[in-house]
Amino acid sequence: MRALTTFITTAAVLGFGVLTASAQPAGAAPQATRTGRQIFETACATCHGADGRGTPAAESNYPLVPPDFSDCNFASREGDIDWLAVSHDGGPARGFDRLMPAYGEVLTRDELERAFLHIRGFCTSGAWPRGELNFPRALVTEKAFPEDETVLTIVADKGAVTNKFIYERRFGARNQIEMIVPLEFSKRAPGDWTGGVGDLAFAFKRTLAHSLRRGSIVSAAAEVAIPTGSTERGIGSGTAVLEPFVAYGQILPAGGFVQFQAGGGLPLNRTDPDEAFLRTALGQRFRQGVWGRMWSPMLEVIGAREIVSGSATQWDLVPQMQVTLSTRQHIRADAGVRIPVNDRAGRSKQFLMYVFWDWFDGGLLAGW
Ligand code: HEC
Repeated sequence: MRALTTFITTAAVLGFGVLTASAQPAGAAPQATRTGRQIFETACATCHGADGRGTPAAESNYPLVPPDFSDCNFASREGDIDWLAVSHDGGPARGFDRLMPAYGEVLTRDELERAFLHIRGFCTSGAWPRGELNFPRALVTEKAFPEDETVLTIVADKGAVTNKFIYERRFGARNQIEMIVPLEFSKRAPGDWTGGVGDLAFAFKRTLAHSLRRGSIVSAAAEVAIPTGSTERGIGSGTAVLEPFVAYGQILPAGGFVQFQAGGGLPLNRTDPDEAFLRTALGQRFRQGVWGRMWSPMLEVIGAREIVSGSATQWDLVPQMQVTLSTRQHIRADAGVRIPVNDRAGRSKQFLMYVFWDWFDGGLLAGW
């Protein structure tokens, strides 16, 4: 008897469902199929403006003017996942103001993504590589994405410590200039260390091609190191070195990515041998919670060879872990070990780490 009642109720509910579904007038789109534009205009435009520039907020003396989505320099940098975090959980999910409300209760992830498609249309230039192609920075392999960053790196082994202060500045959609100031310390004898400023270096990088659809980005760059270090004290190489390279990054499924850097070191004195290198960084991004702190384990494979006959290629492995420190994710640290795999005589293990600050995304003290 109970079974029969259940059967009848179930049939009635199902039947009713089918009836109401088929009774829905064609043309009145159910909520789930609202276009990105409709979602944006009903949910977001009151503050962000129908044109995405934040004008209504500015005109109504709203306490905080939202960013201008038609400014490609701003809008191209963040990936959808970061926008999702902010739109789903509200501004504080990425260290922004709570005046940016949380929509997780009223809009689905799919609806938010559709709204983003509309927002992405406000930047009308395709020249700007998308933030999704900005992969976690590896310890050795240079990335292809043009950046606004300040990085402090440390490389240490038993007999030497090198700190590098790296300043990267992007200009335009695809270009980046870079300045590197190394501080080198080395042990001459037990307890006797010497140190000073090493060879200053300057670099220019330009993105040649990028495609979010293919998930890839490729850039070419050239770095020049000038012999400012005191070779008497064992600092610097004593010659200017030109280092041209190409860098390529590719999105892999499930949060994975791979980055390649291939190039050479060409000492201008022509007495030191030229060097060729190939660096690979394979990694994966894991998020704490849905869009919380990001952990990116990476493994680098570093190959380098002097271009003289009979010389062997030296291979190193660099296992490492990058982690986002600030809620905004604009301050991150990475640490790992460089392990010589072959040709180990005279090559010791090194400890490497960096802290970087993506200053375009906010001040050092903002976004925690
Ligand atoms: C009540 C006003 C208001 C509404 C409504 C609103 N926003 Fe915002 N939004 C803001 C403000 C203010 C900021 C800037 C926050 C900051 O800089 O601290 C912002 C920032 C953002 C950002 C930028 C995050 C970054 O990386 O800088 C995104 C993306 C965003 N909003 C998406 C949306 C979407 C999508 C909707 C609609 C579903 C929406 N907003 C509705 C006020 C609003």
